[in-house]
Amino acid sequence: MEVNRYLVALTLVVLAQGASLGQDEKLRYDNYSVYKVKYETPEQRNLLTKFAEDRENFRLWSEAKNELHLMISPGALSKLESEIQKINVTAEVFIGNVQSLIDLEEEANLKLSSDGSFGWKKYNTLAEIYEWLDGILVAYPVITESFILGQSYEGRTIRGIKISYKSNNPGVLIESNIHAREWITSATATWLINEFLTSQDEGVRNLAENHDWYIVPVLNVDGFVYTHEKDRMWRKTRQPSDISSCIGVDPNRNYDSYWMEYNGASSNPCSETYGGPNALSEPEVKAMSDYISSNKDKFNVMLAFHSYSQFLLSPYGHTSEEFPPNYDDMMAASKAFADAVESLPYGTVYEYGSVAEMLYAATGATNDWAYEQGIEMSFTIEFRDTGRYGFILPPVQIIPNAEEALVGIAALLDKCEELGYLELKTTQ
Ligand SMILES: *[C@@H]1O[C@H](CO)[C@@H](O)[C@H](O)[C@H]1NC(C)=O
Ligand SMILES: *[C@@H]1O[C@H](CO)[C@@H](O)[C@H](O)[C@H]1NC(C)=O
Ligand SMILES: [Zn+2]
Repeated sequence: MEVNRYLVALTLVVLAQGASLGQDEKLRYDNYSVYKVKYETPEQRNLLTKFAEDRENFRLWSEAKNELHLMISPGALSKLESEIQKINVTAEVFIGNVQSLIDLEEEANLKLSSDGSFGWKKYNTLAEIYEWLDGILVAYPVITESFILGQSYEGRTIRGIKISYKSNNPGVLIESNIHAREWITSATATWLINEFLTSQDEGVRNLAENHDWYIVPVLNVDGFVYTHEKDRMWRKTRQPSDISSCIGVDPNRNYDSYWMEYNGASSNPCSETYGGPNALSEPEVKAMSDYISSNKDKFNVMLAFHSYSQFLLSPYGHTSEEFPPNYDDMMAASKAFADAVESLPYGTVYEYGSVAEMLYAATGATNDWAYEQGIEMSFTIEFRDTGRYGFILPPVQIIPNAEEALVGIAALLDKCEELGYLELKTTQ
């Protein structure tokens, strides 16, 4: 109770600031830095994540095995210093000024948006993505089909596109931008859609035409719009809480798969990994969950796009002491992905393993839910980078990242086919 009251008091301060933002004002991150904090024990991790729940000064960016990336307000550096000494961990800075990266990104976006064109040299807004999708649907009426997952908390439509060149193809489901600030995911998803429709490359044609693609470019539509209009670093949904003034739930902890078990999510509404008041509390997650379970026989492979870390992650999220029955096959497919990506001139390295093995226990995620629905090849892909730019990946890296996704997914699907995972589940 004491702890809760303390947290509520802190968040009220933050919200007071947020509420004072004018219509066109964005949250600024002048002189906010991002640190890699290396830890060794679960106790140290717990202390660090508790510490980071002080949202006025800290924001959790990412967690990898024994490493946590924390964004820190300039006023809280001494607090961090004493904390890392107290917990006995080491820390190094990798972004000195978050706002300068946001400014560069915004400059590129503004420069290219002025002529109203959609493209992959900048990050597009939800309105731009949907307008572009409409154009695609008109231009390719036979091959493409629009589908609607449902409505977000704020009433936006969550859209998807199906691409199918022929009947009896195995199905691949792609969920993208469930985390709002991971802009590279929808940029990559839209680039893939475009390649599948326009590429003349024989390998891409085979990939495009021999699978049915079900792609949701932006699942967390409210959060995504919020990152463009108010807070570039927003991660969660935008639904308010009944028990706290902190807004939003981590949608990738909100699926009904070991929900809130195994310490796989936070019960603190102010945490970046808050699992929500109940499983499927978020309309966006409920919509995707219903879509998956009612169409599960159409999907052979499920890919959830995230950033950043360059990881390919498979079930389970809840424990690293137990592995799915087809874990070895998933690792073979993961290796195929990683080898293909590394063979490109960029030489980008992906690591792979189960979520719980590679990171920490995380429950209620899409790929675990999809796996439980019988989609036996379900992965989370954490795109570029490993923490030079983090979520603010420069626009010049959009196409290279997307090219890596393309060759990686092609290799992964080849391996899935070789291992017998692309058989039709029902006659469609
Ligand atoms: C950021 O830090 C620089 C260098 O210490 C300082 O000159 C500047 O005023 C700071 N900016 C803000 C907005 O606090
Ligand atoms: C701090 O951690 C180091 C290893 O990272 C260890 O050698 C040392 O004993 C620890 N110190 C304390 C006070 O726990
Ligand atoms: Zn994510």
